[in-house]
Amino acid sequence: MLIQTVNMCRTYKKSGSEVAALSDINICVEEGEFAVLVGASGSGKSTLMNILGFLDLPDSGSYLFDGSDVCGMSDREISRIRNRRIGFVFQSFNLIPNLTAAENVALPLEYRGIPRKERLLRARQALELVGLSHRTEHKPFELSGGQQQRVAIARALAAEPQLILADEPCGNLDSKAGGEIMRLLCELNRSGKTLILITHDENAAKLGDRIIRIKDGRIQYQS
Ligand SMILES: Nc1ncnc2c1ncn2[C@@H]1O[C@H](COP(=O)(O)OP(=O)(O)O)[C@@H](O)[C@H]1O
Ligand SMILES: [Mg+2]
Repeated sequence: MLIQTVNMCRTYKKSGSEVAALSDINICVEEGEFAVLVGASGSGKSTLMNILGFLDLPDSGSYLFDGSDVCGMSDREISRIRNRRIGFVFQSFNLIPNLTAAENVALPLEYRGIPRKERLLRARQALELVGLSHRTEHKPFELSGGQQQRVAIARALAAEPQLILADEPCGNLDSKAGGEIMRLLCELNRSGKTLILITHDENAAKLGDRIIRIKDGRIQYQS
């Protein structure tokens, strides 16, 4: 089991009042699986994704990643897993405007102390994997939305993560570009990456191995 949560809760405290964003979440995701997370806006999907991606911590219950409880990990261990084993793809592509596609993809590798030459080599390989070998020296403004999202996926892939977390990756794309991004994500899953996708698109949701539906911070249904 790659991911397991047990009665996991997350409450936001804001000026005296509390919002229970997640209550008693129990989910399991196997290595290699493609799970789809659906639910209305405000239901807690991004909060759950952030915890699964080590960007946030539960405040009660537990989250086991590959058998280890995240709440028992040091900050160093947490950032190591986040940087090496998890790749993020967001609705907004979050590319740095004055860097080329290759430089954007190489940037996270710099934080890991990988030498410049090797970084750029790995960046070009990742861009080739997403079908952008002819756009490595372009800046984000010179690329379409779909291409920018592919750069963001290449950036996630350059670290060779085990798990890809995609939070509405097609939310800013038209249906054609969105379909291409979905095909790419499915291909990555078939090549062995575990994939968790948040989507509002019913057609995209059907591509997963299973569906987890969340409502008001609780699991309403899972297949
Ligand atoms: N940083 C935050 N501070 C306070 N409340 C938050 C914060 N982030 C999310 N929330 C609240 O938690 C709930 C779940 O939000 P979120 O996980 O973003 O839902 P979704 O991604 O499904 O739209 C919402 O009620 C939202 O307003
Ligand atoms: Mg969200």
